[in-house]
Parts: sequence; structure tokens; C-alpha cells
Amino acid sequence: MTGAWHASLSKMLAQRVSDPDLVQLLDAIASACWSIARAVRTSALDDNQGSTDTVNVQGEAQKPLDILANDLFMQALDPCSRVAAALSEEVEEVTWLKSPQKGDFIVSFDPLDGSSNIDVDLSVGTIFSISTIVADNDQEVLQKGRNLLVAGYAIYGPSTVFVLTLGDFVDGFTLDLEADEFLLTYPDMRIPFEASEFAINVSRQRHWPQPVSQYVADCISGPDGPRGKAFNMRWTASLVADFHRILTRGGVFLYPVDEENEAEGGKLRLMYEAIPMAFITEAAGGAATDGIDSILDLQPTASHQRVGVVLGSSDEVQRIAAAHI
Ligand code: F6P
Repeated sequence: MTGAWHASLSKMLAQRVSDPDLVQLLDAIASACWSIARAVRTSALDDNQGSTDTVNVQGEAQKPLDILANDLFMQALDPCSRVAAALSEEVEEVTWLKSPQKGDFIVSFDPLDGSSNIDVDLSVGTIFSISTIVADNDQEVLQKGRNLLVAGYAIYGPSTVFVLTLGDFVDGFTLDLEADEFLLTYPDMRIPFEASEFAINVSRQRHWPQPVSQYVADCISGPDGPRGKAFNMRWTASLVADFHRILTRGGVFLYPVDEENEAEGGKLRLMYEAIPMAFITEAAGGAATDGIDSILDLQPTASHQRVGVVLGSSDEVQRIAAAHI
């Protein structure tokens, strides 16, 4: 039997999380990710590849799997009676599931991040975060990242890994298909302080702000350049996949505000991409900024707001922030 010596996600939740409603919610999200993993794996067989005729709130063509993943995630929230509101990348308005009471949960999620990778069989993922309603009848879902209770993601790659933090440890659990469980395989993940790998979409170089151009130029100038060492570059075009690599072996991820995306405020979405990943990054000892300021300290102003993102090994992130000032 595989995985016999690894603790299961449900056992860990039962031991570490005192609120039974939060345990129920996290179990439900893990099982939604499992269902999405299955749908991703069989998408070609199920005729679920390509695009639909609809676009989401971002103006991006929705894939059948985007819609299916959203439905699977929302169905999983259904029995969780303390979930007051859900904010999904795929749905324009916040979905209110009950009249909000203090302490109820707000779940923000991107059901299938990096979905352009599906048709070429590369890694995609689901990102989520949980915060709480501050006061009775409070309709405010736009909370700062500092207020999060939990953030996590699932990566659907060669294996399915569910990464979770309650703000202290960051743990990774691999889906064991034989045991029908997520088992702890990457305990206490830490992002190394220094890095020699960066991730950025280089095709946008002509639009970059000067500090980003300078940072990348310094990195690629190698041992004879100002950094005095060789850097490697990787870009998967799936935030979950690029982030998972950085969480596992260090590095820095950049999707800056640039000349082209400036009017929209950047490319990545604050509520269900940047904030959850920033929360995980800080819990793993790294840093996450919009280029200058900590993402977790930004006050969101709109559900589908975009933002510049620089995150990963804190030495590199601080260097880029210093160059912006
Ligand atoms: O926001 C969606 C997303 O696919 C992210 O997962 C990824 O980091 C980024 O966009 C890829 O952007 P680009 O298309 O510029 O490579």
C-alpha cells in the first residue's frame, strides 16, 4: 500500500483546527479539488477541451473546464452552512449563500487557474482563500489579505498536490489514488531566502517598467554582471505551476504592472490569485509585493481587481521593491 507512513489531510485538520465548521469547509474544498483533478485528467476523453462561446468577467474565453471546475467548487460549498459568500473568477457578482453573521466564512477562489494550459496537457490549478465576516449583516467581502484565515491551492500536475496554510506552516499533501486521500508529503514548506531563478513572461519586455528591465538584465548578465552569478529562467504561464516551483525550490515570480496592462492595474487578480499566493508566500518565509508594497496590506476596492505581483525569495523581492523607490 502506498503512503502508509504519511498523515492524512483530514487527520491533520482534525488535530490542528479547533473550529469544526472550518474543518468541514476545508475537507469540502479538498474534495472539490479532487473532483476537478479527475475532470482535468479526463478532459480530452470527455470532450471537455477547447473554448466555449462565453467570456468571463475578465473578457477571457471560458473553457468548458473553467465552468465545470466552478460548478464542482460551488457544489462542495453547498453543505457548509457557515459559508456566507463566495467570490469566483468565473462569476461577476459575489454569490451570497446566506444572510451574513459575524464569524461566517467568505471563500474567494479561482476554480481553474492557467486554463490555457489544459489543451497542451500542462499543469493547472485551483486557488482559494477563506476569511470571515467581521460583523452581523456585514456584506463586505473585500478584506485585506492580512485578515485571511486560510489560503491554499491544488496543482494538477504529474501528481495532484494540495497546499494549505493557516498562516503558520505551509504543508503539501499528495493525492493518493489508492488510499483515496490527500497524504502529507511536503511538511513545513519554506521558500529559500536567496534565489538564482526567476519567472517572468519575457515577451512583454518592451512594456516593462525600468526597474523590472534592469533587474532581469542584471540576472541574465551572469557571473560577470552585477549579481556575480548565473540565473535560470522558467515560465509556465500558470501561476499555480510557477508558484509551486518557487515554493519548492526558491526563486522569484514577476507579473508587473507594465505599459500595456497599466490601465487595468496589471494582469493577475488581487482577490483570488495575488492575495492567497501572498499569504502562502509569507507563511513560507518569503515576501510578496505589488512591486513596492506588501500585497497583504493592500485594501481591495473591487472583486475582480488586478494588481502587479512580485513574490518569492524575500531577498530578491526586496531588491526589486528597492529598485522601484
Ligand atoms: O491569470 C491567469 C494566468 O494564466 C496565470 O495563471 C499566469 O501566471 C498568467 O495568466 C500567464 O500570463 P501570460 O499569458 O502573459 O503568460
